Amino acid sequence: MNRHYRKTIIAGNWKMNKTASETVAFAAELRKLLPEGLKSEIVLCMPALNVTTAQKAFKGTKVNVGVETMHYQAKGAFTGELAPAMLTDLGVKYVIIGHSERRQYYNETDQSVNRKVRAALDTGLIPIVCVGESLAQREMGVTSELLAYQVMSALSGVSARELRRVVIAYEPIWAIGTGKTATSEQAQEACEGIRALLRKKYDARAARAVSILYGGSMNAKNAAELLAMPDIDGGLIGGASLIPADFATILEASRQEA
Ligand code: 13P
Repeated sequence: MNRHYRKTIIAGNWKMNKTASETVAFAAELRKLLPEGLKSEIVLCMPALNVTTAQKAFKGTKVNVGVETMHYQAKGAFTGELAPAMLTDLGVKYVIIGHSERRQYYNETDQSVNRKVRAALDTGLIPIVCVGESLAQREMGVTSELLAYQVMSALSGVSARELRRVVIAYEPIWAIGTGKTATSEQAQEACEGIRALLRKKYDARAARAVSILYGGSMNAKNAAELLAMPDIDGGLIGGASLIPADFATILEASRQEA
């Protein structure tokens, strides 16, 4: 993490978990545990249906309520989808784009990810863009090429100025929900590689301002070690973000010396 140049962000991804009542109960619990004076940005991405409930429940705290996906079109005949302006109108700031589960189950492609990143930036949302390799790809030795392709296509048409409003999350698919975390060296290597890529596509100044998160079985026990790596600027946390005490421990682990 490097607070001099970029924000530390601890983001939860609740996926398809928690009803509205469970969301209220979670907020009541987390409120008691939120670390004092923490500079990290706190984000909880959740099913859009519960955003308003969560915003009320977290009112007066530093918790940002975000969502897990959206459409790239502004409006129209897209049954079941959410338009970017529907989110900003509710005061939503963060949206996860291109999570591997969306890529795997809902036809999210590098092209649609790029259109969604564009739509997010045009609407004033901060996209948390997910990239990551499968186990097979890692074993074939193509991880860095794959990450480069995913990052470059997601950011096609994004200017250096706009890059400041983009968050990237490195989430190796083999580490998601498996309890198998990337080692801090593996995670650092990937995040460092992504930053080097940004330096090449943009410049050093733009690259050092981007927050790059790690996601994949980050939990209360391993967070401190992962977050201590120089190019890991936070976490995107699934399972452990559903448990107030665990999420609060990860928040505390993100505290840096001033
Ligand atoms: P887990 O933390 O449950 O492995 O999920 C990670 C993830 O997919 C966050 O987006």
